[in-house]
Amino acid sequence: MCGIIGYVGPQQALPLVMDGLRRMEYRGYDSAGVAVQDDLGAVGVARKAGVLANLEKLILDDDLKLPGSTGIGHTRWATHGGPTDRNAHPHRDVTGRVAVIHNGIIENFAPLRAELESAGVELTSDTDTEVVAHLLAAQYDARPGDLAAAMGAVCRRLHGAFTLVAVHADAPGQLVAARRNSPLVVGVGDGEMFVASDVAAFIAHTREAVELGQDQLVSITAQGYDVSSFSGGSADFRTFHVDWDTDAAEKGGFEFFMDKEIAEQPQAVADTLLGHFDGSRIVLDEQRLGDEELRTVDKVVVVGCGTAYNSGMLAKYAIEHWTRLPVEVELASEFRYRDPVLTRDTLVVAVSQSGETADTLEAVRHAREQKARVLAVCNTNGSQIPRESDAVVYMHAGPEIGVASTKAFLGMVVANYLVGLALAQARGLMYADEIGREFAALEKMPAAISETLTRMDRVRALGKEISDSRAVLFLGRHVGYPVALEGALKLKELAYMHAEGFAAGELKHGPIALIEEGLPVVVVTPSPKLRPLLHSKLLSNIREIQARGARTIVICEDGDDIVAPFADTLIELPPVPVLLQPLVATVPLQVLAAEIARTRGYDIDKPRNLAKSVTVE
Ligand code: F6R
Repeated sequence: MCGIIGYVGPQQALPLVMDGLRRMEYRGYDSAGVAVQDDLGAVGVARKAGVLANLEKLILDDDLKLPGSTGIGHTRWATHGGPTDRNAHPHRDVTGRVAVIHNGIIENFAPLRAELESAGVELTSDTDTEVVAHLLAAQYDARPGDLAAAMGAVCRRLHGAFTLVAVHADAPGQLVAARRNSPLVVGVGDGEMFVASDVAAFIAHTREAVELGQDQLVSITAQGYDVSSFSGGSADFRTFHVDWDTDAAEKGGFEFFMDKEIAEQPQAVADTLLGHFDGSRIVLDEQRLGDEELRTVDKVVVVGCGTAYNSGMLAKYAIEHWTRLPVEVELASEFRYRDPVLTRDTLVVAVSQSGETADTLEAVRHAREQKARVLAVCNTNGSQIPRESDAVVYMHAGPEIGVASTKAFLGMVVANYLVGLALAQARGLMYADEIGREFAALEKMPAAISETLTRMDRVRALGKEISDSRAVLFLGRHVGYPVALEGALKLKELAYMHAEGFAAGELKHGPIALIEEGLPVVVVTPSPKLRPLLHSKLLSNIREIQARGARTIVICEDGDDIVAPFADTLIELPPVPVLLQPLVATVPLQVLAAEIARTRGYDIDKPRNLAKSVTVE
């Protein structure tokens, strides 16, 4: 949510900052803006409502040069104040010496704003951010020459979540950045330095990075960086090497990032598995929880939002099956508000692609306050949720830039399953050879997903055919039910179409009333060989909806002759074990949603109103 970049070095800042913003536009596209400091210190600003292309056009049309080698840039996902030019970042103080960009929400901005107004300051935007520019200018005047101390003093007055980056005309060649509850990484180049919300912004220039801790600030110049606490004391931070390469953050010939990310799913699953089995044991990434602690777990609670939540629903089936432990799945946004029953023996699995989602982060904190142990399943090294957890499984799916989650969903499912196997192993419930067999089955999935991807022409044609529908329903049973939920979520967010996922057995308890002539209903069908009873129940459901005029779109295993006669459209998938079916069955639903959205003329990488990392509650 909001993308931030800053650069200091020998090169012209503007092209580097704009390039960084392009790589982070998925974080917000309500407006974009840059500030560049010239060699004498003066700060020039350009900002524009709407997508980054609008800012590019402004710079071109107005022939804005913005020379200088110190710069900051911002893509906005609006929280306070509409997506207008005047609310676009950077924001400046009254003298124009300070320019500041912000990601997050400053919860006490109203009293700060009132304080400034009563001191005669005229604010020019509706944002919470602008107060920082004015406060920082005043703090710097009180301690000239020490921009970091001035920023620290401002941060100590702020409540809420923020990443801030500021430049000051009187401190040429320096940027200060600070963070609380929002992401900030430093990129350490050769004679040049970056700060950004996400490593994607600078991996074209350096892959050496610094992860800042909570309530820390960093001052950067071309020569290096200096990290401290808000009060100027020493601070613990972590350096790391980014193993994603630049290509991973490029479209690589695809029309959209989402198309590329769907195509990358076999690799994402293979990479998620990589290094997580040593021939006899499942290995977690940052195992700060010993086997002894995993043995005493008496309940698992999986928390996440959106797609991550759907992956948690699948985790329930697998973890209960392998460990016989009760597994609850909870929307992270609800979790801490309902006083959940947590003890030292509860394992909370926090699933998040970004590792930044505020709802999930707060759920993690709540769980830890209650002394539960927390294991993070995450895709983003250096993010907050893993940092605050007791153990981590990284999904290594590579950067996901399309706002709708695709390859990360498959990565999450696999990583969640690894958590289940790790628990079963620690508790002595599965022998090494059994774990090895499950792992080997997972290792066959990249090939099955690749095979599935070769069969998508039929799905794309279907997407075009049903793109005018008013709604689409998705049905499934057992692991097919979370797949149905995920299919519906993809369609809602990408095609802005009404879509619902139901447990097929629930149909007769209400949703069947929605069925009308021609309504497309996608049914995820289990294997007739592996789950004959479930299959026959689902067949009845298909017949019920067909009898009421629905257009049946049936996703089934290759050669399922029983269900085929009842399918208006049949989508066959390679046979795989029951628990692994979601890894192939989700793929056509992603492609379907993308194709419907494309046919309706929408940008599938940037669905309206959404942002990739939701860092506000
Ligand atoms: C859906 C989607 C969102 C995210 C959710 C959680 O396609 O992308 O529902 O899954 O915002 O995000 P993370 O996984 O980053 O915590």
